Amino acid sequence: MKIHSFTFLSLCISSAVALRDNSSTGLLLTGDVSLGDWQPAYKKAVEFVSKLNTTEKIKLITGSGAEATDGSSFTALEFTDGDMGLQDYFYVSAFSLASAISMTWDKDAIYEQAKAVGTEFYNKGIQVIDGPTSQPLGRTPWGGRLVETYGTDPYLNGIATGLTAKGYTDVGIIGAIKHFILNEQETNRTTSMSGGGGGGGGPGGNSSSSMLQRRSSQGSSSSGAPYSSNVDSKTFHETYLWSFYDGVHSGLGGVMCAMTKVNGTLSCESSSLLLDTLKTELGFPGLVFPDTNGQEHALASAVSGLDYGSSSLWSSSNIEGFLANKTMSEARLNDMAVRNLMGYYHVGLDNGKQVSTVEDDAYVDVRANHSKLIRAHGAKSMVLLKNTDNALPLKKPHKMAIFGAHARAPIAGPNMEFSVEGSGPTYDGHLATGSGSGEGSLPYLITPEIALTIKASQDGTMLRWVANDTYSSSSSSGLVMKGSSTTSVTPSISNYAENMDVCLVFLNALAGEGADRTELTNADQDSLVKEVAENCANTVVVINTVGARLVDEWIENDNVTAVLYGSLLGEESGYSIVDVLYGDVNPSGRLIYTIAKNASDYNVGICYTSNCNFTEGNYIDYRYFDAYNVTPRYEFGYGLSYTNFTYSSLKIDSPSPLSLYPAGKLAVGGYEDLWDIVANVTAVIKNSGTISGAEVPQLYIKYPASAKQPLRQLRGFENVNIAAGKQTQVEFGLRRRDISHWDVAAQKWAVAPGTYTVYVGASSRDLRLHGSFRVETKA
Ligand SMILES: *[C@@H]1O[C@H](CO)[C@@H](O)[C@H](O)[C@H]1NC(C)=O
Ligand SMILES: *[C@@H]1O[C@H](CO)[C@@H](O)[C@H](O)[C@H]1NC(C)=O
Ligand SMILES: *[C@@H]1O[C@H](CO)[C@@H](O)[C@H](O)[C@H]1NC(C)=O
Ligand SMILES: *[C@@H]1O[C@H](CO)[C@@H](O)[C@H](O)[C@H]1NC(C)=O
Ligand SMILES: *[C@@H]1O[C@H](CO)[C@@H](O)[C@H](O)[C@H]1NC(C)=O
Ligand SMILES: *[C@@H]1O[C@H](CO)[C@@H](O)[C@H](O)[C@H]1NC(C)=O
Ligand SMILES: *[C@@H]1O[C@H](CO)[C@@H](O)[C@H](O)[C@H]1NC(C)=O
Ligand SMILES: *[C@@H]1O[C@H](CO)[C@@H](O)[C@H](O)[C@H]1NC(C)=O
Ligand SMILES: *[C@@H]1O[C@H](CO)[C@@H](O)[C@H](O)[C@H]1NC(C)=O
Ligand SMILES: *[C@@H]1O[C@H](CO)[C@@H](O)[C@H](O)[C@H]1NC(C)=O
Ligand SMILES: *[C@@H]1O[C@H](CO)[C@@H](O)[C@H](O)[C@H]1NC(C)=O
Ligand SMILES: *[C@@H]1O[C@H](CO)[C@@H](O)[C@H](O)[C@H]1NC(C)=O
Repeated sequence: MKIHSFTFLSLCISSAVALRDNSSTGLLLTGDVSLGDWQPAYKKAVEFVSKLNTTEKIKLITGSGAEATDGSSFTALEFTDGDMGLQDYFYVSAFSLASAISMTWDKDAIYEQAKAVGTEFYNKGIQVIDGPTSQPLGRTPWGGRLVETYGTDPYLNGIATGLTAKGYTDVGIIGAIKHFILNEQETNRTTSMSGGGGGGGGPGGNSSSSMLQRRSSQGSSSSGAPYSSNVDSKTFHETYLWSFYDGVHSGLGGVMCAMTKVNGTLSCESSSLLLDTLKTELGFPGLVFPDTNGQEHALASAVSGLDYGSSSLWSSSNIEGFLANKTMSEARLNDMAVRNLMGYYHVGLDNGKQVSTVEDDAYVDVRANHSKLIRAHGAKSMVLLKNTDNALPLKKPHKMAIFGAHARAPIAGPNMEFSVEGSGPTYDGHLATGSGSGEGSLPYLITPEIALTIKASQDGTMLRWVANDTYSSSSSSGLVMKGSSTTSVTPSISNYAENMDVCLVFLNALAGEGADRTELTNADQDSLVKEVAENCANTVVVINTVGARLVDEWIENDNVTAVLYGSLLGEESGYSIVDVLYGDVNPSGRLIYTIAKNASDYNVGICYTSNCNFTEGNYIDYRYFDAYNVTPRYEFGYGLSYTNFTYSSLKIDSPSPLSLYPAGKLAVGGYEDLWDIVANVTAVIKNSGTISGAEVPQLYIKYPASAKQPLRQLRGFENVNIAAGKQTQVEFGLRRRDISHWDVAAQKWAVAPGTYTVYVGASSRDLRLHGSFRVETKA
């Protein structure tokens, strides 16, 4: 339970910005935003709300059902985490995390996964998924929750966010994107004792939502004074707001505002963020609800754009008082009520087909054949970083040893206790799902050890293991001889690594909601790799990590012949990894962030002050490394294959003259013409090797200088399967927004006239083709 502090009330009343309810900004009924295919939902919502009295409207906006005067009624929406599958449920799937699905760079995989996740929610009677989780974006690699999101590049993150939102919408679930916005780190996100402050996804006060009851023990015990992210409007639009456009454009019905502040104001009480930006600039037609503790003040939140909140703050007496003395308008209350229903009607939940909500442990198995998709997507997401002399794929090795706690099941598992108090830095067992709000409900867990054992039994491989990161044997008795080829050698890391055809070392890194990372390497695990490599000339390292995991302690060691790297893969994790190790799946995952040589090479760390000034602007991740000539170990977009590809025949269809600013209607997702394809680029990719595989050609753009942009930015990618010796043409459509920048003076997206250089390549630094086009602007 949350105790509200009155010291903050005076601050809020003196804030002229927040209390401007007489403005009509962001109200659906003003018609400023063209609703397009949301129009039928709006009509239904307005009709239902017109039959509610004030008491019922207040129930609706505080997470309860509502009864209309004609006897019809609305049952409160159920909200649950998250993108990796339903949290804390029995008989559901644990999917790969958002960062893993993003590492596939495969639009079909992203969309199919969203539909599968959404279907499981639908079949458990849940209406709202707390996802897509687009941000934190990854301003700092130490951010604790990056495993839950789609990575540091706004374009890639935006495509994944949009496809996920569409997948949820298409199966009849309301997508509710989080976290809006600039909630880039866990440290000081609240001042609660735990440093946590709740599992997210609901008002901090008393509400009837089952989600809140489930999370009530996790609530913070003090009022929040979280850090403020202070950012200029250019960076805000070009880097952080970008992916929210994709989500809104693709049908999201909900937005979770963050528990932190922006420019000194709580995100959930900022009219600038919620009314001007989200509901006007982006044309968002749905409901805004707070992350835990995001709502502090009844009036400020109500008039600043929050639509769903705490029933203690938004008690009948409070809301009726505001209406009576006109600090809040009837129009705003109606708007809130309507917005609470928009997503419900838009995705068709009023068709009466959805089952009613089932209990967490009810025997309702919604998994269908999703395990196959989870296995395939996990394999597609793995990134091959190094592969000397085709060390991989493995070919029926005679003798293999495996090392590290990450190879095997945890001693008790598969699931951890829910916690928002941080976790890590490593996990004593195979890590396949996140923690806090990123924790899926593993129904079982295929570890690498299980999958490798099955493989060994089929292939006739001798398999031995040391399933611990720091193991040393106390045994020195018996007829054992170090270094001999007997099977009964004293168990130790070095002895077991000797005389093997291949040694597999498994590493992980764990972090999650509630605390940021404390390290990007791990001394024990790095020592393990080095000790194995000292004794084994064919050492293969497999890493599953929540974010950037540096490898420079051993990457140049010649005995480390291959490295396979990825995020957390869900219930089939061991199979996914082994499918790639043995070549049943040719790796095609690509990095969604930069792996630096040294931790100090990253320009942004954790902020420990109450004001976090984003002085680096747009220059995070590869934009920073490129601009400041910092050589990464592995760059954004990097990843190898078991085959080779060649690039040729770049062709560019230049745009016709464009207006400087968008000239279309303001619609859901911003000005309509931001989404127009204005230029097309094609290239031919050939598989010049001997086995089939998928390649991920990436398109980067360099803007004219007047647009003041980073050196090169991702603006297109495709994932294409190509048979050995065959070639295919890939096409990239550039949307108006892909060549736009934020014009600070005009506060609009603008197209700079001039020359745009186009690069098509295999990563942000492996640029194989280049050309250019000119943009002329017209009045
Ligand atoms: C709107 O609010 C401002 C201050 O909050 C006040 O000065 C102004 O008179 C109000 N306008 C209307 C039309 O109520
Ligand atoms: C408001 O509407 C509900 C449902 O129709 C009804 O039960 C309740 O008495 C009404 N309240 C008032 C104050 O009229
Ligand atoms: C929430 O409110 C209901 C109804 O007003 C009350 O019965 C219940 O005790 C409250 N729960 C908490 C946790 O305060
Ligand atoms: C934050 O404040 C700065 C400086 O006043 C302003 O330029 C910027 O637009 C504000 N950012 C947001 C997201 O409102
Ligand atoms: C309006 O009513 C609310 C709730 O009763 C009260 O807290 C607030 O002080 C009032 N404001 C004004 C300006 O009268
Ligand atoms: C899973 O089942 C669906 C329909 O039931 C089918 O369309 C799909 O191809 C199956 N997927 C796999 C990977 O078997
Ligand atoms: C791993 O080995 C270390 C040192 O030998 C020991 O302290 C630790 O308890 C072991 N861990 C497990 C899970 O057995
Ligand atoms: C590589 O492994 C071999 C054992 O196969 C060992 O003799 C050699 O010293 C190792 N090299 C390094 C650099 O550790
Ligand atoms: C932020 O967190 C750090 C470490 O937990 C703490 O020392 C510091 O006082 C906090 N700062 C604020 C402004 O809360
Ligand atoms: C952030 O910027 C403000 C305004 O420029 C400045 O007063 C403050 O000292 C800065 N804070 C930090 C921690 O740099
Ligand atoms: C890819 O090409 C390189 C350089 O030509 C060659 O060394 C390597 O063996 C090729 N790899 C595959 C898998 O064909
Ligand atoms: C780009 O391709 C699309 C269809 O693929 C076409 O409608 C459009 O006219 C093309 N635009 C340009 C500038 O070539």
